[in-house]
Amino acid sequence: MAMSGNRVLALFGAGLFCGALGAFVLMSAMQQRHQVSRGSMAMMEYHLKQARQQSQSDRCDAAGAYRQLLRLRALGEDSTRIFDAIGYVDVGFERRRDGFLTEIDKGLAGGPDCATIGSALKQVADACEACHHDTR
Ligand code: HEC
Repeated sequence: MAMSGNRVLALFGAGLFCGALGAFVLMSAMQQRHQVSRGSMAMMEYHLKQARQQSQSDRCDAAGAYRQLLRLRALGEDSTRIFDAIGYVDVGFERRRDGFLTEIDKGLAGGPDCATIGSALKQVADACEACHHDTR
């Protein structure tokens, strides 16, 4: 027995609805999974910007910029645990993370000093990009 046109349409509509609902549920679950990792990356971006501003020679706030670098280091240290939970961590990730910490440490090595921190930040930003290039 052939289905009437209306029934086909209704079934098709129900299929679309279930598909959309499923996709939505899946997407919000995935987004929740990434909440902490993305949040930590938003803080990375924040502290990097702050460090840049505070290390500028015309408004040098060396103690402030140094503190921002310490925040970045702490976020880098935590990143393995955070990203392991969502399956990003492998040898490449660890190597990039270590490279990132190395660049941070170069900035910290001179103590609170705007010039040292300012020039280290360029390599730090490159280290952010290097990890993104490998992992995203
Ligand atoms: C060792 C690896 C690594 C380093 C170092 C790293 N990131 Fe990330 N970053 C990632 C990964 C992986 C993602 C994707 C996260 C996700 O989708 O859950 C990401 C995502 C981001 C995002 C997008 C977040 C979003 O809401 O989608 C921003 C912004 C970001 N990183 C900024 C930075 C900045 C700034 C630095 C350096 C100060 C940095 N990251 C250093 C691995 C890294």
